Amino acid sequence: MNERERIAICPGTFDPVHNGHLDIIGRAAQLFDRVIVVAADYSGKQTLFDLAEREQLLREVCAHLANVEVESFGGLLTDFARSRGAVAMVKGLRTADDLQHEQQMAMMNRQLLPEIDTVLLMTSPGALYLSSTLIKEVHALGGDVSRFVPAVVAEALARKGRQPQR
Ligand code: PNS
Repeated sequence: MNERERIAICPGTFDPVHNGHLDIIGRAAQLFDRVIVVAADYSGKQTLFDLAEREQLLREVCAHLANVEVESFGGLLTDFARSRGAVAMVKGLRTADDLQHEQQMAMMNRQLLPEIDTVLLMTSPGALYLSSTLIKEVHALGGDVSRFVPAVVAEALARKGRQPQR
């Protein structure tokens, strides 16, 4: 790692990654020297896509961003951030509900790792209503989600079929 490099991590479940996530990742890539997108694996959430699938989809949709890497991780994010020398966690903010949750996590993460700051980027207006949960629900119920996700994700969803949402 270059000492002057400003590294941010961009964590999430990404089940699956959608256009709103890509908006935030792309903007983080403009703000920081390096961005590590982290597909989080933890037991609290059942996912439609397993960790390897979520990571692979992220790799494909971030391939055009030169300073963005993709990894997965299953422990405390602050441990991951410390191990990579990250100075910030970048998250997207859609609604007031997001704010409440993100504020709590930001404060907890700062208790765990005072060197890290959370940077909350306002979601672009066109992505305000996007969530992986809603996208999976619309897809499971037969709706077309192709305008909400990158093409590779739409194809991956199609391969999963219209199974009940998780
Ligand atoms: O995309 P999501 O589901 O909103 O992402 C939530 C995520 C993965 C960022 C959050 O659950 C998380 O930080 N998990 C990692 C475990 C951890 O560090 N927990 C303490 C959070 S204060």
